[in-house]
Amino acid sequence: MPIDVICEQESVFSSGNQNGKSKGEIGDNGCVGFFTCLIRILIGANLTRRPRVGWCLTKPDGLRDQINLSAAPFFDTINNREEMGSTSKEYEFLSEIGLTSHNLGCYVDGKWQANGPVVSTLNPANNQPIAQVVEASMEDYEIGMKACAEAAKIWMQVPAPKRGDIVRQIGDALRSKLDYLGRLLSLEMGKILAEGIGEVQEVIDMCDFSVGLSRQLNGSVIPSERPNHMMLEMWNPLGIVGVITAFNFPCAVLGWNACIALVCGNCVVWKGAPTTPLITIAMTKLVAEVLEKNSLPGAIFTAMCGGAEIGEAIAKDTRIPLVSFTGSSKVGLMVQQTVSARSGKTLLELSGNNAIVVMDDADIQLAARSVLFAAVGTAGQRCTTCRRLLLHESVYDKVVEQLLTSYKQVKIGDPLEKGTLLGPLHTPESKKNFEKGIQVIKSQGGKILTGGKAVEGEGNFVEPTIIEISSDAAVVKEELFAPVLYVLKFKSFEEAVAINNSVPQGLSSSIFTRKPENIFKWIGPMGSDCGIVNVNIPTNGAEIGGAFGGEKATGGGREAGSDSWKQYMRRSTCTINYGNELPLAQGINFG
Ligand code: UN1
Repeated sequence: MPIDVICEQESVFSSGNQNGKSKGEIGDNGCVGFFTCLIRILIGANLTRRPRVGWCLTKPDGLRDQINLSAAPFFDTINNREEMGSTSKEYEFLSEIGLTSHNLGCYVDGKWQANGPVVSTLNPANNQPIAQVVEASMEDYEIGMKACAEAAKIWMQVPAPKRGDIVRQIGDALRSKLDYLGRLLSLEMGKILAEGIGEVQEVIDMCDFSVGLSRQLNGSVIPSERPNHMMLEMWNPLGIVGVITAFNFPCAVLGWNACIALVCGNCVVWKGAPTTPLITIAMTKLVAEVLEKNSLPGAIFTAMCGGAEIGEAIAKDTRIPLVSFTGSSKVGLMVQQTVSARSGKTLLELSGNNAIVVMDDADIQLAARSVLFAAVGTAGQRCTTCRRLLLHESVYDKVVEQLLTSYKQVKIGDPLEKGTLLGPLHTPESKKNFEKGIQVIKSQGGKILTGGKAVEGEGNFVEPTIIEISSDAAVVKEELFAPVLYVLKFKSFEEAVAINNSVPQGLSSSIFTRKPENIFKWIGPMGSDCGIVNVNIPTNGAEIGGAFGGEKATGGGREAGSDSWKQYMRRSTCTINYGNELPLAQGINFG
């Protein structure tokens, strides 16, 4: 395939390299599109598999630990990067986005403060500390919520297009720091730089979408059955929206929720993932600056780093009418029950178990490229990651062979390094889960075709793995959050749909076919039962313009584009009598 064709395709797929990206050394040095790397694989470029985490000299003690500030030898270490084995240059960029070695993790009542536990945030490539963060205490939470409830009264009265202008400014602020934020995402979450920048771009896209939306929060006028009466629908803000996000998309999911919530007239209370606090802080600093510049109360956007205690407080808090939660189905169910018990609303984005179906008439090259991105991208830690590959028996061997060749050349390593396709899993625990998962898979008859092992040494690296297994194996129904792909064989379209729909989750799905008959059956009532139903593209990498979310154990929520905004507002059905009579509906005569 000629290189210029490939580059064009790359720009279609990797939104991170498009509009608005500032020309910094970071992007120039590190950003390589997923598809460029993929093409190198397909054309057989010689890439190495060894992770390179050269700046790490010392061994980690274990998981992201909660440590006592006074006892921590932190300042000695963090202020002397040489001691940590890190070159200070690699962390210098953090100051460009307002981060230091020691950060307060709460923006409450327009001020930075924090009185909770002190945690170290770790680099998943070597499990060395990047910086320290003080998390929220319950007192911080209460101060934040009180101020937020007051700010809500102000913000909901600001005209929607003016709120849109604030979100536009947030988008501009993000644009100016796109490369730095993308780099931070790679450093703290572990995704490769192209995907880190792509994720920040997703928030910028959400800002743009929401600015337009701020002039289109339209209600409708409904014909009344009564003379001199008029019915209309008004959309009003809810007040406060709680947003609890996960480590795998630590800023895009905030963007989906916060951009829409803000233009809809709501204040936002955000709790980011406990293991990505620097991203929470850096994002919040940009938003806070915009609010301050416009003399608006900072409490319109309240953010807290913290763990389950803060999450639980948000779920229980009657001042928060809507709680958006992204995470596992298990925890999502608990959040739903807690919020429902106080008659609140939830917006849930939970586990996925997404399949790609490759029909007998599919473009095999297109399918193989898509599977590689869908199964290996973000080290298999997207909720949209392809976990099940359903292959028509007539193309089974060909697709598997193609994938085995590609997988063997995937470069595993430092996510910030040019050419890396597979960064580390997020935590040492994720690596252990991968290893445990492989044992369970083997015990249920799974045959490893490639991969299956954790990479020895520092960092949470694992091999990209393909497994041949029966669709009846219990483990296939579960979401293993790692680059593990199950391949399954089918004979007919109907059988493929049945396998696709046979899992508890219902997030994303895709079919590769050229036949209109298959395409329309797939997207219709007897086709895929997922919220995202694709054709000839991967299961992951959704655009923000559509509503994002899934059915069944995925939680039923829809975020980002389309008419998702309606969930962030309350609908008032208004009937107005402008006459002097009182005709009753349904023709009732009452005295
Ligand atoms: C997630 O994994 O939680 O469609 C979100 C995608 C991204 C969002 C994933 N736009 O893969």
